[in-house]
Amino acid sequence: MTLFAITGTPGTGKTSVSEELRSRGYSVIDMNVHIREHGLLGELDAPRDTHEVDLDDLNDSLQGYRDSDDLYLMDSHLSHFMDCSGIIVLRCRPEVLAARLEARGYGCAKVLENVQSEVLDVILCEAMDSDIPVYEIDCSEGDASASADSVEKILKGETSDYTPGKTDWSEEMDRWF
Ligand SMILES: Nc1ncnc2c1ncn2[C@@H]1O[C@H](COP(=O)(O)OP(=O)(O)O)[C@@H](O)[C@H]1O
Ligand SMILES: [Mg+2]
Repeated sequence: MTLFAITGTPGTGKTSVSEELRSRGYSVIDMNVHIREHGLLGELDAPRDTHEVDLDDLNDSLQGYRDSDDLYLMDSHLSHFMDCSGIIVLRCRPEVLAARLEARGYGCAKVLENVQSEVLDVILCEAMDSDIPVYEIDCSEGDASASADSVEKILKGETSDYTPGKTDWSEEMDRWF
């Protein structure tokens, strides 16, 4: 099995990096499409404006990719909950993330909720809560192409620059809480 998770708070760059990787010939699973195609979209969680997804069912639905000899990557903020070979957590400096989410048209509450989650390393902590190797890429600067270069390095085993703990947004805590 070679199935890698690309995860991170909304706005960190998962989809842009995935598009870049696809253009370089990688197979990246768009998990939103996968979830819909497999009938895994659960009930609407109206206050959060998201649909619930059963993580066990989602994990099971990926078995075909695991059984394959080919490399697959997953684009989703849920991908780090899946059984996989490695987890790549994309990170973004809080003020940069806030600007990206505002530009996307998110309201204040939704921007704040996501920025707070990023400041608190929520997805990184969830990812570290498994025995799967975790890597971290700071996507605050540069562009999706540079971030895709970093993903490629990780896939080649050049992981030393991407060990978790190199990003630290704790200085921004007061500003967002
Ligand atoms: N280094 C970088 N890596 C990835 N995306 C970046 C980077 N710098 C700027 N961006 C921009 O940030 C935005 C990220 O949005 P998107 O890829 O949709 O994030 P996500 O899928 O994680 O919600 C895009 O507009 C992208 O062009
Ligand atoms: Mg996305």
